[in-house]
Amino acid sequence: MPLLTILPSGKTVEVAEGTTILAAIRTTGEKVPPECGDEAKCGACHIFVQEGRKTVSKMQRLENERLDAIVGVGSKSRLACQTRIGPDNITIELLGFASGL
Ligand code: FES
Repeated sequence: MPLLTILPSGKTVEVAEGTTILAAIRTTGEKVPPECGDEAKCGACHIFVQEGRKTVSKMQRLENERLDAIVGVGSKSRLACQTRIGPDNITIELLGFASGL
């Protein structure tokens, strides 16, 4: 199974392919901000995918529209609730968490 590494804590967790990144984060005990129920409405789950951007699911219109409204978004930005883990390991950074609120 692919390995998810979470920065800045450095926690790692094995995750089944197809799991959303937010679901995986919840299993690690990382603090997760108030959220919209994984519907790409709140932007609370904004993360940066530092490694493995090509292995995760492609961005869909709803996620793209929500990210457009968040300050500080960059080329590595994704919404963790909308992004599914692919076959390879990835590293994400939580510094964008709650920035979309
Ligand atoms: S949890 Fe609200 S946009 Fe991801």
